[in-house]
Amino acid sequence: MSPTGLPARLLVWAAGLAPLGLLAWDFATDGLGAEPVEEITHRTGQWALRLLLLSLSVTPLRRMLGWHGLIPHRRTLGLLAFLYALLHLATFLVFDLDLSFGELLSEVAKRPYITVGFATFVMLSLLAATSTRGWMRRLGRRWTTLHRLVYAAAVGAVVHFAWSVKADLREPLVYAAVVALLLGLRLLPRRPRPGQSGANYATLPRSTKTGSGAAPATVTE
Ligand code: HEM
Repeated sequence: MSPTGLPARLLVWAAGLAPLGLLAWDFATDGLGAEPVEEITHRTGQWALRLLLLSLSVTPLRRMLGWHGLIPHRRTLGLLAFLYALLHLATFLVFDLDLSFGELLSEVAKRPYITVGFATFVMLSLLAATSTRGWMRRLGRRWTTLHRLVYAAAVGAVVHFAWSVKADLREPLVYAAVVALLLGLRLLPRRPRPGQSGANYATLPRSTKTGSGAAPATVTE
């Protein structure tokens, strides 16, 4: 199976949606335990964070191991992370705040861990909305700069998690270590793609760079 072909893409979508399917099943069969809303918040938050970290690990894996076939899946994983974050926020809004956006704004202003969660959600929304080829072309080099926000979103998600935890910080600390590792790996020297001379867009002389209308070669780095 080709790593970039349709079956591989469908497999990634199916695997990413499986926890949601399980959640729906447990919801329909009263399998969410004594605190179903807490359980939904817990599972959607956890999967949003996991998928975000998985999407962040694509670039280091490609650079270190040369797994170029993973690249198209980075966007899928990012969109799935956004989907779980949206469900996570919707759970809070519907079950905890009776769908009151005014209450949500006052929660954002009042509780620091909600403030950080909200900021993270805004970043994920921006990343999801601009993840299309059209936006890549429109933004050119600025697209790459904008999409570095994904690192801030990962830090935000871990801080939000750690802040929401009352006592046991072990789990958020494990996620914090993974984010630190992924950020650290970004600093390693790049491995050229097959057929690439080693020069990347940032190092090309100005005269050879593409105009603002065209997506640069490294825009998907
Ligand atoms: C406006 C946006 C958000 C709101 C209102 C929100 C709200 C909440 C609430 C109420 C909790 C439960 C805290 C508790 O147990 O007392 C929680 C936990 C959590 N949230 Fe969020 N959140 C938001 C955004 C996000 C985002 C964007 C992510 C990840 C990308 C995220 C990941 C998590 C995680 C991992 C937990 C801990 C889950 C657990 O293990 O129980 N949240 N959030």
